[in-house]
Amino acid sequence: MTILLTGAAGYIGSHTAIALAEAGYDVAIVDDFSNSSPEAVRRCEELTGKKMPLYEADVSDKEALRKIFAEVKPAAVMHFAGFKAVGESVAKPLMYYRNNLDTTLSLLEVMAEFGVGPFIFSSSATVYGAKAKVPYTEESETGGCTNPYGWTKFMIEQIASGAAKADSNMSVVLLRYFNPVGAHPSGRIGENPSGIPNNLMPYITQVAVGRLPHLNVFGNDYDTPDGTGVRDYIHVVDLAEGHVAALKYALGHKGTEVFNLGTGHGVSVLELVHAFERASGVKIPYEITPRRPGDLASVYADCSKAERVLGWKAARTVDEMCADSWRWQKNNPQGY
Ligand code: NAD
Ligand code: WQD
Repeated sequence: MTILLTGAAGYIGSHTAIALAEAGYDVAIVDDFSNSSPEAVRRCEELTGKKMPLYEADVSDKEALRKIFAEVKPAAVMHFAGFKAVGESVAKPLMYYRNNLDTTLSLLEVMAEFGVGPFIFSSSATVYGAKAKVPYTEESETGGCTNPYGWTKFMIEQIASGAAKADSNMSVVLLRYFNPVGAHPSGRIGENPSGIPNNLMPYITQVAVGRLPHLNVFGNDYDTPDGTGVRDYIHVVDLAEGHVAALKYALGHKGTEVFNLGTGHGVSVLELVHAFERASGVKIPYEITPRRPGDLASVYADCSKAERVLGWKAARTVDEMCADSWRWQKNNPQGY
């Protein structure tokens, strides 16, 4: 059974491609390499010993998709492709709406043409509004996003669930990721941000490897135990395994289901810095700077639904997240 993954030359998709291959599925990938390298897929093949047909195409391009669907005959689609930088989405909102919405619309239309029902989408904890209370459950209020990136995730959730309501063949699973970090334990694949990282873990690893001089900690006056922001960091391999569980679910159900994928535990910026120092043996110099606009004090998930319905639970510790992020960065100081 072949699963078509869009955007799987990227960080989360490449780890999921490995988890799917290990679970016995065939994987085909479509990516335009706008934020990734084909080398990631080559390494996924090397790690699993399985061929992963790779199509270079823009997922908005329906003609290209039709050719891929005709060749691959996917049983299900996982949609990772999209732009994901929050700050850039504020500066270039139309580019974000165009890419994230067009890719999804084209994909859903071509899936309907080919009668492919199961659709697993990379949503985000960012869809929860600032009014929602931690821990977020799938029923917590959504909307009120603070940036165009977040709105694209909110809108795509509406688009995909609307499509599933109208087409009884469809099975939509919306996965709301919390903060993915870590890397494959081999150190061969990992997160490869272009330019200066926006997210905390790649920033820390680039400081550790000497590419950046120090970490800026965005505020230490939040109402949290040590004053720094608290997030729900999840190991990307746990997240990848969550997709395998979601696929099994989608293959046996119709309609739309939403799942939080996190650990359920909040970790502060300074706790993560210190865990990384322990795991790597490298000191991370940091400076406290003002809060980053739009940041919330504390964000973490209630993941009991995924455990109950999918039989999935994140297993890897913060120490493993740090050790694996470090192994990837140390072995690949300039990325792919
Ligand atoms: P990534 O940038 O590493 O991967 C996205 C991939 O999509 C890249 O390989 C890129 O080249 C490709 N892509 C973008 N536009 C495309 C297009 N029009 N056609 C074909 N390919 C295209 O990002 P990631 O961290 O792996 O994230 C994967 C998905 O998960 C994204 O949708 C992202 O919004 C979502 N997500 C990520 C996080 C996170 O913190 N990393 C959190 C929540 C949700
Ligand atoms: C984590 C914590 C920062 C960088 C973002 C998106 C979200 C999702 C995941 C896609 C916060 C602090 C960070 C730095 C710092 N992505 N920080 N110095 O903001 O929780 O979530 O990525 O869907 O939508 O918004 O993640 O890694 O940027 O920040 O002090 O250089 O680290 O203030 O408390 P965030 P992050």
